Order: sequence, then C-alpha cells, then structure tokens
Amino acid sequence: MNNPFRPTFGASPLVWAGRATVLGDFETAILGSVGNPDRSILISGSRGIGKTVLLTELEDIAARHGWIVLRASARERIAESLIESAIPEAINRLSPPQRRQITGFSVAGIGSVQTDVESRDPVPRLSTQLRELISHLRGTGVLITIDEVQDASPDDLTQVAVAYQDLVRDDLPVAVAMAGLTHGINTLLDLPGATFLRRARHYELGPLTLEDANVALADTARDGGRAFDDSQRAAEFSKGYPYLVQLVGYLSWEAADELGLESIDAHAVSDAIPLTLERLGVQVLQPALRDLPPRQMEYLRAMAEIEDETGLSEISTSALAESLGRPATSLSDIRARLIEHDLITSAGWGLIEFAQPYLGQYLLDRGRPQRIS
Ligand SMILES: Nc1ncnc2c1ncn2[C@@H]1O[C@H](COP(=O)(O)OP(=O)(O)OP(=O)(O)O)[C@@H](O)[C@H]1O
Ligand SMILES: [Mg+2]
Repeated sequence: MNNPFRPTFGASPLVWAGRATVLGDFETAILGSVGNPDRSILISGSRGIGKTVLLTELEDIAARHGWIVLRASARERIAESLIESAIPEAINRLSPPQRRQITGFSVAGIGSVQTDVESRDPVPRLSTQLRELISHLRGTGVLITIDEVQDASPDDLTQVAVAYQDLVRDDLPVAVAMAGLTHGINTLLDLPGATFLRRARHYELGPLTLEDANVALADTARDGGRAFDDSQRAAEFSKGYPYLVQLVGYLSWEAADELGLESIDAHAVSDAIPLTLERLGVQVLQPALRDLPPRQMEYLRAMAEIEDETGLSEISTSALAESLGRPATSLSDIRARLIEHDLITSAGWGLIEFAQPYLGQYLLDRGRPQRIS
C-alpha cells in the first residue's frame, strides 16, 4: 500500500480539510457576474499553513470552468514574465499562429495598440495582451495567480494591479489570487498604490479545527486503504497545522508498516510522534532559525522558557522584557524582525506567540545535551 499522505510543501493533499468557504466563494465569484469583488483574493498565513495548495486549488476550480490560468512568479518581474511568456503561450494554445488572422498583439478596435506594444511601460502592454487573450475566450475568463508575494517588488505588484483594474473597469472577465506570508501581505496592503489589494477578499489562514484535522487524517488513510484508529490523538498533536497533519499521518502510516499492523493504532502514533518532531525540526524549524542574530535568538529562547513555565502559548511582552532584564520599548525592534520572519505573531495587545507549533519546545530541546542512542 502506498503512503497517501503528502508532507511536502506545495504538494496538494489527497483529502482537503477545511477552507471550504474560500473555495466555494471563489467558484461562485467566477460563475457569477463580472463585477463580483470575490474575484480578487488575498491569502495570507504562516509557513506550512496551506497557502500554496489553496492557490493551486483555486487554479483548478478556474480551469475546470474553462478559465485560463496564468501563474506568475513573485521572484521574477511579474508583468514582464506574463507579457513575454505566460500570455503569448496561452494565446498560442488557444489559437495556433498558423490559423490566426491577426498577427502580433494587435486587437481590432483599439487604435493605440501599436504604440502600446512598443511602449516601455509594461502596464499598457500587459493590459493590451490580456485583452487579446480574453478576445479568444468564449464565456470564460483569465485568472492570474501569484504565490510568495512577500518576495515581490511593490512596483511589480502595482503594475499588475493597474492592468487588472483597467480590465475590471471595462467589465472584462479577470480574476486574481495572491498568496504570501502574513507580514508580507500586510506590508503590501499599506502601500499607497494598493487600493485594489485593500478591496480584495482577504483570507488569513489559521490552523484547521481539530475536527477537520481528524477527518483529514482518517479519510486520507482510508482512501489509502487503511483505517486510522487513533486519528484523534494524531489530530491533537498536529494542532491543526496542515503540514503537521500530513507529516504525522505519513509517519504514523510508516510506523504501522514497520509494526506489521493492519490499521494505524495508538502504538503506531506513539512511535510516529517523536519522529515527526524531529523531522519538523530538521525540515522547517531549523532552516527558519538559520542565521538569526543572537539578540533575536535570545528573545525566542526567553519566550520558550516562559511558555514552558506557564504552559500557555500566549506570552506577555512585559513578562518577556522582565525575564530579559530590558525595558519593553528596547525590544520592539527585535519583535518586529521576528514577526517579519514569521517566527512569532502578535496574539493581541501586549501578547505574542510562536508562529510555528513546537518551536518553543524545539528551542528548549536544542539547548539540552543530545542523547545518543
Ligand atoms: N486544507 C488542507 N488539508 C490537508 N492538508 C493540507 C491542507 N492545506 C495544506 N495541507 C498540507 O500542508 C502542507 C503545506 O502546504 P503549503 O505548501 O500550501 O503551505 P504554505 O502555506 O504554502 O507554506 P509556505 O509559506 O512555506 O510556502 C502540504 O503538505 C499540504 O499537503
Ligand atoms: Mg507556499
């Protein structure tokens, strides 16, 4: 039996947990009228919370309804990569050049096309090309998706936004979905040119409910051909964090193999939990902490100790300042850097918490001597 769990960033899960509202609203939006505001979507959240796979799912929904999906990378010049490759390729697929009447990117009825095409400004070029692409469609539309927007330059995003708004103003069928780390998205929303983003439907992804995590674990195992008897405990352990759901599911499945079990029982989950923590540390936590300045490290360790003492995940910044022996105001800069790095998040006024589950425990364990078996 093949292991049905997918503990890999960007790999879509076999069974979807939660997020039904986002998917349903988006489907309604693209099937509905052109002006539906849910056609522009922003997805934010921490590492491993499921942004990329949600974006992929939105793309699949659009594609199922005959829409053209243009995925742009935030690591390149977005408008340029759309203009130079994604859009021409889509047009070629829809209408191979040998059968096309119109050459280049001229669109009948728009007089300024020639100058637009030659223009150095990518915005009119992008707008013109999208119009051409849309002219090949019958009753569908174009979805532009951008992942990891926290890495995009504000200029690039503004170009896409301006072209997008230009099309929306003319009632053309376009949609846009962007995903990125919470801090990055919030920074974008504060930009002066980001009115369009502020109007987009914004979903901040949080952990799955315990019940959703439980169902995802049980159903994924069942679809793979095995019962998950102790899915409840695995779900609790995952804290609803989608990457951990996949990872603990995957390793529990392997443990059941190892133990020669028919189904995944409590024994298998017990074997899997320490392995899951180890894998989480190596693959997610350690890379996130790499090259962190000593002051920030010290801040995180102090948080971990307080969390350990109080047993509460929400930590008061004044208690933290006290434990570090420094005035709270002198720590605000460090706190801001850590939020930027998606290592901690604000948990309300004067409260912070770790952005990743088990990060505190990992920091404490790392300080202890290694037990060699
Ligand atoms: N709704 C879900 N149900 C079940 N599993 C999920 C769900 N969402 C995400 N996952 C799983 O969680 C893992 C991480 O998902 P994803 O790569 O989308 O995270 P991300 O938010 O994009 O992370 P990063 O910020 O590092 O890019 C994957 O293994 C994926 O299969
Ligand atoms: Mg991602």
